Amino acid sequence: MGGNAIELRGLTKTYAGHKGEPPKQALKGIDLDIPQGSVFGLLGPNGAGKSTLINILAGLVTKTSGRVGIWGFDQDVNPRQSRAAIGVMPQELNLDPFFTPRGSLEVQAGLYGVPRAQRRTDEILELIGLSDKANAYARALSGGMRRRLLLGKALVHDPQILVLDEPTAGVDIELRQMLWANVRKLNRRGMTIILTTHYLEEAEAMCDEIAIIHHGELLIRDTTKRLIARIDTKTLVIEPATPLTGDLPLPDGVQMDRRDDGRLAFNYARTKVKPGDILSALREAGIEIADVSIEEPHLEDVFLDLTRAPDHAA
Ligand SMILES: Nc1ncnc2c1ncn2[C@@H]1O[C@H](COP(=O)(O)OP(=O)(O)OP(=O)(O)O)[C@@H](O)[C@H]1O
Ligand SMILES: [Mg+2]
Repeated sequence: MGGNAIELRGLTKTYAGHKGEPPKQALKGIDLDIPQGSVFGLLGPNGAGKSTLINILAGLVTKTSGRVGIWGFDQDVNPRQSRAAIGVMPQELNLDPFFTPRGSLEVQAGLYGVPRAQRRTDEILELIGLSDKANAYARALSGGMRRRLLLGKALVHDPQILVLDEPTAGVDIELRQMLWANVRKLNRRGMTIILTTHYLEEAEAMCDEIAIIHHGELLIRDTTKRLIARIDTKTLVIEPATPLTGDLPLPDGVQMDRRDDGRLAFNYARTKVKPGDILSALREAGIEIADVSIEEPHLEDVFLDLTRAPDHAA
């Protein structure tokens, strides 16, 4: 191990304009390495270019320029091998309504040239929790079941890399947890996972490393831990024993927010201020504290910070 599952160099995509509209440059030269064995998050606001990138990997969209390496194979030089190394669960539900889950998985395995003896249809049906719906028409499946079937289809050829484009959009909590349990299981068995999601707590919990793209450009790529550590702000939250109004004497660099529930939130830079200093200041002002907690920064803060920065505005 230790190599890259995906290597992108100068990847661009410009969609032709429709009906007199100008062409749309969806990817503006992406350089990105995704290590083997990782759970890698591809994040970015709507229209950033995530699905375009994923669909290029899947061979569903033709790139305009640049190089795409998948599991060591150049997509242009070895299209068959690079396709065999990757399974993609697309963002859009594109199932044939007249196929059953079993039929869909069999057809997909056929498309990928998986010999009958090597097919794992029952195992996959079990994994995606559709064994009892194996012979129902796709049109009779709920939205969540269809999503699970899309995941199953991405797995028929046992790819080294699994790509999930917003796998949990609009999916209930139970199914979401099942999906993530499955993804973790596949990753533990050695599968490299690449996913997009707009649920940043989910990315924070699932991904070892993250890339944020915005307007077709790579803004940042780092471990989830280091990305979160970039945010220097922490928040000390106190519940006063009696309701408080008016100003409070606070150490320099501390900013206070009153929350609707009567609690007070003190934002401070952890490299400059210690929470004890804030508590001492409150104690000196004679304030009695009923409860206290500290809130850590989240990936969401990093994301908003980066994607709202004025120099990256459209
Ligand atoms: N087939 C297409 N023809 C023309 N423009 C397209 C096409 N597909 C995508 N685009 C444009 O390319 C840009 C990137 O779209 P893409 O679907 O890759 O974004 P995304 O990051 O996946 O967004 P979302 O979070 O909404 O799924 C958008 O401006 C979109 O309008
Ligand atoms: Mg998308």
